[in-house]
Order: sequence, then structure tokens, then C-alpha cells
Amino acid sequence: MIITLHTLCGVFYTKSAMESYNILIEHLAAACDVAIFTGAGISAESGIATFRDPDGLWSKFNPTELASMKGFLRNPDRVWQWYNYRQAIIADAQPNAGHYALADFEKYIPNCTVITQNVDRLHQRAGTKNILELHGNIIENHCVTCNSPYIQDIDIQSKELPFCSNCGGNIRPSVVWFGENLPDGIYEKAEYSAGHCDVFFSIGTSVEVYPAAYLPFTAKNRGAFCVEINPTSTSFTPYANIAIQEKSGDCLPRIVETLQQYLKREYNAE
Ligand code: OAD
Repeated sequence: MIITLHTLCGVFYTKSAMESYNILIEHLAAACDVAIFTGAGISAESGIATFRDPDGLWSKFNPTELASMKGFLRNPDRVWQWYNYRQAIIADAQPNAGHYALADFEKYIPNCTVITQNVDRLHQRAGTKNILELHGNIIENHCVTCNSPYIQDIDIQSKELPFCSNCGGNIRPSVVWFGENLPDGIYEKAEYSAGHCDVFFSIGTSVEVYPAAYLPFTAKNRGAFCVEINPTSTSFTPYANIAIQEKSGDCLPRIVETLQQYLKREYNAE
């Protein structure tokens, strides 16, 4: 396990893993507001591929073809089938220890907000209640022409693209594609959360897709204690107060368990 600590002014030093955890637990125990920003890496241990790792989705598929309105208009059947293929993988997947640990945070932190870029709904299936989906979700669908939600059951084995019963337009998954706006008001809520939290986690994200990638820097600039959990470094690593270079499913359960023990000891809390 590698844990690197960075001071506020960016001078690099290392501490023992135990000392780092103690610092983090003290910050968490004192925190009223915690914001947790997650990306594809948190679902990797559930068997869902990330995007930018060497074997990630964008190494095998072209995002312009599969994640843009231009690509959809050019070949709607192909795009629809690709999302059905991903949805089938997600439907078979289960939340992992990292998702469950984050759901447990809500028991110990007064205001805890998960801000996710993921479309797989695994946080909700693990029990997280307070969640902002920046990039929509892959479960719901809507009409490209009149925007009406499509509420009929989807047969994910079928190759047939459904049509809107209101206007006959093509149906698309309710995920945000490149070049599109985020769902109404979501980014503002996420930015508020990042800008007003005491502790900010950036977990399993390459911090490359904007505007989401601004959030860790917003939190840092507004004085939050920032923790990154990611086996590899990102553009945010030098700014994190603690960078834990481990899999989230390994270290998050330990963090929650240590927090629980600390609170029990300090405040005799359950
Ligand atoms: P990326 O694929 O860009 O980054 C995933 C990150 O997770 C990488 O930095 C990995 O090192 C890290 N990682 C891998 N396994 C991990 C594990 N077990 N524990 C912790 N971290 C791990 O995914 P995102 O940052 O989520 O957009 O990508 C952002 C957006 O780009 C996605 O929401 C998607 C994509 O295009 C849309 O779908 C709109």
C-alpha cells in the first residue's frame, strides 16, 4: 500500500499508512459535510469496465461514434445495441465493498453527498441515498425528438430500436454524451457540495472529463481536506492532502470501520 501525503503548499512528504489513516479519520470525525466524487474505477471491482485504463472502453470503442448525438444520428441502431450490451453487464453486476462502504458513510457523517459520473446506479443499489448523477444513467431512456421519458420495458436482448409513442422519434439512453449539457441544476448542486464540504474524496476517476473534473479543484480551493483514492496518479494527485494508491474496494471498508471505531471510542456512538 502506498500512501502519499501532500502539504497545502504542495511540498511532498510521506508518512506511515497508520499515521495517514489517523489524520483522515480525525478529519472525518470532525466533519459536518463530506462530498464524495466517484468515477468508473469504483465499479471496476464489480466487473464493469472503466473508460481510460489500458483495457478500458475507449481503447476498444470510438467515443465519437458511441457517445455523441452525431454518432447516434449516423447509426442509431449500433449505438442502441452498444448501450444494451453495457446495460446487460450492469444488470448482472453487484455493488462491491467500496459502494457499500460509501453507503455506510451516511450513518456517520451528518451531510454526505455522493457526486457520481457513473451511469450504473450501483451506488443506489448499495444503499446510498443522497446522490447526484452528473452524467445521467443507463437504466432510463427518453425520446431524442420530444424529450418524453420512455417508460415501457426495454428488451435488452432485442436489436430493435424503440420509437416514441408520442411523436415517433428515436429512443435513446438517458446518459450524457460528449458535447451535451449535464441534467438541469445537477452541476450547480455538485459545485455547492464540493465548495462547502469539510472533506472531499475523489475516488476512481481519471479527473479528465469536464465540467466534472473541476470539482476536486473547487473543493481544494475552498479549503476542503482532499483525499484521492486511485491506484494510479491523476492531474489531481499533487493537490490531494492524502492520495491512497489502492483499489477503492480494498481501502474504503477499512476507512469506514476505523471511523466507526474512532467515533465509538470518542463519543460512545454506535
Ligand atoms: P476513467 O476510465 O477515465 O478513469 C477511471 C479511473 O479509475 C482511472 O484513473 C483508474 O486508475 C481508476 N481505477 C481503476 N480501478 C480502480 C479501483 N479498483 N479503485 C479505484 N480506482 C480505480 O473513468 P471516469 O473518470 O469515470 O462519461 O471517466 C469520466 C467520464 O468519461 C465517464 O463518466 C464517461 C467517460 O466518457 C460519460 O459516460 C458521459
